[in-house]
This record gives sequence, structure tokens and C-alpha cells, in this order.
Amino acid sequence: VMNKAIAGTRDILPEDIQKWTYLENLVHTTMNNFNYKEIRTPIFEETRLFKRSIGEATDIVSKEMYTFIDRSETSITLKPEMTASVVRALLEHSLDKQQQLNKLYYIAPMFRQERPQAGRFRQFHQFGAEVLGSTSPLLDTEIIIIAYRIFQNLGLKNFSLKINSLGIPASRDKYKNLLRDYLSDKIETLSDDSKQRLDTNILRLFDSKDERDKAIMEQAPLLLDHLDEESKEHFESVKEILDGADIPYEVDPKLVRGLDYYTHTTFEIVSGSVGAQSALCGGGRYDLLVKEIGERDVPGVGFAAGIERILLACENEGVLPKIENKIDYYVVRLNKELSNEVFEIASNLRSKNQSVEIDYSLRSVKAQMREANRLGAVKVLMVGGEEFERGKAALKDMCTGEQAEVEISEFMKK
Ligand code: HAM
Repeated sequence: VMNKAIAGTRDILPEDIQKWTYLENLVHTTMNNFNYKEIRTPIFEETRLFKRSIGEATDIVSKEMYTFIDRSETSITLKPEMTASVVRALLEHSLDKQQQLNKLYYIAPMFRQERPQAGRFRQFHQFGAEVLGSTSPLLDTEIIIIAYRIFQNLGLKNFSLKINSLGIPASRDKYKNLLRDYLSDKIETLSDDSKQRLDTNILRLFDSKDERDKAIMEQAPLLLDHLDEESKEHFESVKEILDGADIPYEVDPKLVRGLDYYTHTTFEIVSGSVGAQSALCGGGRYDLLVKEIGERDVPGVGFAAGIERILLACENEGVLPKIENKIDYYVVRLNKELSNEVFEIASNLRSKNQSVEIDYSLRSVKAQMREANRLGAVKVLMVGGEEFERGKAALKDMCTGEQAEVEISEFMKK
């Protein structure tokens, strides 16, 4: 039986690549405009890094990681997200000691063993950014704006921003007790999943898709109404700066994220064009994560966006520019004996930074011209006959149809 790609993984074929590079180029340009520097980290890390940062009770860590013991008995995990790796790299190379503020970005594959469906993969790709070294709400907002601008510049229309604040652990812990009290006489009605999460990850009950859970959580007290003064102020600033930047948003007090490291601001941008897996990106502030991993006090904020979902949204909204395939030259061989000469002329043009194609299989002149057309050659150089004996060739402009004689040696010099 023929081998197939593993469920939830995809080949990105040459016909898809243009969309990917188009988006990647937009990411590089935008990040550069905001002065973020690219970082690349290995695709696997020690398992405990992710356990400590993302949190043992999260779905990602408890159900979805690709974890294995390697041949030297080390537990390894394919990275399910990038924030933990970036923080690990920052600490390992003391980037935080070299400069106060580190603005970093990435484009990389991630791995989660989720149930595959439209917009959900087991190997997927994220671009994202992390800022380490400042608690300023300007940076919470900058991170949101970067994601927002990239979606706008792609031409996407059907998306919206949701923001929330998870405050600091002290106010969050107090609130969790409140929520526990509220739920105490409703436990029997909760779904089994939610019953389990009561002790491990109570905030995730807001994320339940179960109708009974939803009805109960509808009336639940909200963390946003129980924030301490400092957290409230921080959140107010973020909203004010977003207003100033003309970025529309909706405050969603039920927005809880699937990772444990957040403090203060959290956000998601959701698309109305991609179906159930609608989160194009998510992120937030994580002022205590670096301390958790590396005992150093470095606040952070960041986001990550799913490239597959974004390209799906672009496709469904019909917004990606049609990029035509073109090559600069097709060199046609008029006589069969001139294969090596044509090969040499093509090499020469290629070394002058031109994209050039030739025929490798002794096809007829007619077939070569057809191929030149199919490849979108801008110009065709026809080599052979008595012209070639005089050191000349015919250069045809495929757009105008005009043809001119050129001196081959002169032509190569240009
Ligand atoms: P996340 O919400 O887990 O956050 O993932 C961010 C985005 O990655 C999602 O909004 C979605 O677009 C995409 N994504 C996640 N899982 C899949 C999947 N199975 N298939 C396709 N796309 C997927 C994080 O990863 C955090 N590290 C974000 C962050 C950075 N927070 C602070 N800094």
C-alpha cells in the first residue's frame, strides 16, 4: 500500500507556496516596521519546559503533546507553541541582560495531537511575536495592533477582536473561590469534563460547549468584575490606547485562554469566514512566566496566529492577489545538435540572476515554444541555424511578438 501523509498533516505543494511566501513576506515586513527581530528555536524541547509553562492541567499538556523518550532516555516534546521556547532561549542566552527590552518574532511549525478537522491540524504553522522586559500597556496594545494590521493588510474584512483581563494571581485566586461557591450547588448538573476541571482548571468552564454548562456559566460571576485596582488600571489603559489607534474591539469577560501563563490582558481575533475553528490568533500578557521557568523577573506579552486558518480565511474571502507565474527567458534550441550550447547560454543567463528554462529532452521547436508559453516566458531566445554560425540569435518578446537579432556574446555581457 502506498504511504500517505499522517492524518492532520499536510503537504504544501508548489502551487500553494506562493500564498505562503506572500503571507510570510508580509509578516517579515510588518515585524520589521515595528522593530521585532526574528528568532528560530529547535522544533523539540525537553518535555518539562512545556509542562511548567503551559500548565499540567491544560488540554495541550494533558492530552495533545507529541511526547516521546529518545534513545538517551530524555523526555522530548515537539513544540506545541512557541512562547515557552522563546523564554527558554532568552534565559539561556541572557538576552534580557544584554538589553532591557527584547522584541522577538517567529514563523514556525507547531505540533498538537488534536482531532483533525477543517482549520485544525496536528502539524500547523504559527507566526507570532513576544516582547520581553516591560509591563507597559503600550506593548499589550502594540502586540494586538501587529496582528490586526497583518490581517487588514491581507485584505481580510470578516474578523473581530475580543479582549479580556485575567488580572494578577491574587485577585484571580480570590475570584476562583467565588466561582467555586457559585458552582457548589450546581455540580451535579455539570458535564463530566467540567466536573473534572472544577479542581484543576476552573476558568475553562467558560469554554465548555456543553449546553447545560453554558446555561450555568451564563449566570456565573465574572473575573472582570472582581479585578484589583492595578489590574483594572492596566486594562483601562490598553482599551484607551486601542481606541486611540482606531482598533475596534469587544470586551469578552468569558474569554479564557487554553494556556496557564497569562496575567492581565488576553485577546483573540476570530474570523467569521472559516467555520468552527475561528480563532485566527490569540495571545496576552505573561508577567510571571519567565520567573516560573528561570527565576528571573522579566514580564512579557505576545501573540501567535495560525497560518493555515488565515490562508483559509483569505481563500474564503477571495482576498489574496493572483500572482502570475513567469520566467524571464526560455531558450529554444532550433537544431538538435546544439543542446550543450543552449545549456551553456542558459547557465550564463542564470548566473546573471535571470530565471531561465530550456528543454532537456530534444523536443521539437513547436513543443519548446508551447512550453515557453505555458511557463509564461517573457522572452524567448532562439538559438540555431545559420544565425548561430554568425554568433547571433533571435530574441522574441512574447508580449509584443516583436523579434530582433542579437549578438550572443554581446547579449551575455548585459
Ligand atoms: P494558541 O491560542 O494556543 O496560543 O494558538 C494560537 C493560534 O494558533 C490559534 O489562534 C490558531 O490560529 C492556531 N492554532 C492552534 N492550534 C491549532 C491547530 N491544531 N491547527 C491549526 N491552527 C492552530 C498560543 O499558541 C500562544 N503561544 C500564544 C501566545 C504567544 N501567547 C503569548 N504569546
